[in-house]
Amino acid sequence: MTIRFDDRVAIVTGAGGGLGRSHALAFAARGAKVVVNDLGGSAFGEGASSTPAQKVVDEIIAAGGEAVANYDSVLDGDKIVQTALDNFGRIDILVNNAGILRDKSFHKMTEEDWDLVYNVHVKGAFKVTHAAWEHLREQNYGRIIFTASASGLYGNFGQANYSMAKLGLHGLAQTLAIEGRSKNILVNSIAPVAGSRMTETIMPPEVVEQLKPEFVSPLVLWLASEANSDNSGGVYEVGAGYMAKLRWERTRGVAFALANGISADDVAAQWERITSFDDATHPSSGQEAMMDMFANLQKR
Ligand SMILES: NC(=O)c1ccc[n+]([C@@H]2O[C@H](COP(=O)([O-])OP(=O)(O)OC[C@H]3O[C@@H](n4cnc5c(N)ncnc54)[C@H](O)[C@@H]3O)[C@@H](O)[C@H]2O)c1
Repeated sequence: MTIRFDDRVAIVTGAGGGLGRSHALAFAARGAKVVVNDLGGSAFGEGASSTPAQKVVDEIIAAGGEAVANYDSVLDGDKIVQTALDNFGRIDILVNNAGILRDKSFHKMTEEDWDLVYNVHVKGAFKVTHAAWEHLREQNYGRIIFTASASGLYGNFGQANYSMAKLGLHGLAQTLAIEGRSKNILVNSIAPVAGSRMTETIMPPEVVEQLKPEFVSPLVLWLASEANSDNSGGVYEVGAGYMAKLRWERTRGVAFALANGISADDVAAQWERITSFDDATHPSSGQEAMMDMFANLQKR
């Protein structure tokens, strides 16, 4: 095995089942010491139990690996990071994976549905990542994965709260990739598809059975490995054995002459060119994206 995690410590949040369990087992099988975090509540964010995390730890230990359970909510991120420090003395890898659903069409969505999904996915990932960040910076090494979703990338009926949270996580990942780069902290997002208790309510059982979380974990391991020395800030769609990277695409655009002002009629007249993806560009930073705007100012 070339990709190894000996002497590395990985935290996987929400690792008591589904994707997180698969990631935790895969890291441990390749030598990582793993903190298996899971609050153990329902898919809708109710209740708590130590059983799911403990079961995964037992599985890892039975297979000859090293792991410790943590039952805190990701909202207590500092306690999860402390578990890694207390038991293994460091933290190298963080997979922000914990999540819940509160699906409802927007007109039926309550503020509680909105806050709960935001809290677990976004605030929770912030709390764990923020607690880990100083340790990663100090040691000049870190790999972080955020779990986004196709719902965030494309929108999905009934998931206003969830899609907001999931695309928000990728926004966070992109900025942390920029801030972490000089300290060798690489940060990426995945938008996975897998059979789990989260998807069993919306997919037929035979599809859930086939969409194994184990088809997603290898990409997470690769991105979290030392062998990945420069991929950061990306978002990858992964599921059913398919893996692909996404990027922003922008039309060539139109730069209006500024001397006489711009009217809504000018916009209408140029709409085809504004929206045509023939000859599209792919800006990869905010600075690059703004270059056409500043170039237009200089034409004054
Ligand atoms: N399964 C998919 O197709 C799919 C698609 C897109 C995104 N995702 C994302 O992947 C991640 C894993 O989902 P899954 O499909 O394996 O579902 P899952 O329900 O099996 O896993 C989520 C885990 O997070 C845990 N959790 C929930 N709230 C927590 C909290 N506050 N603190 C700690 N742990 C908590 C749950 O107990 C559960 O074990 C989620 O972030 C989900 O949104 C999954």
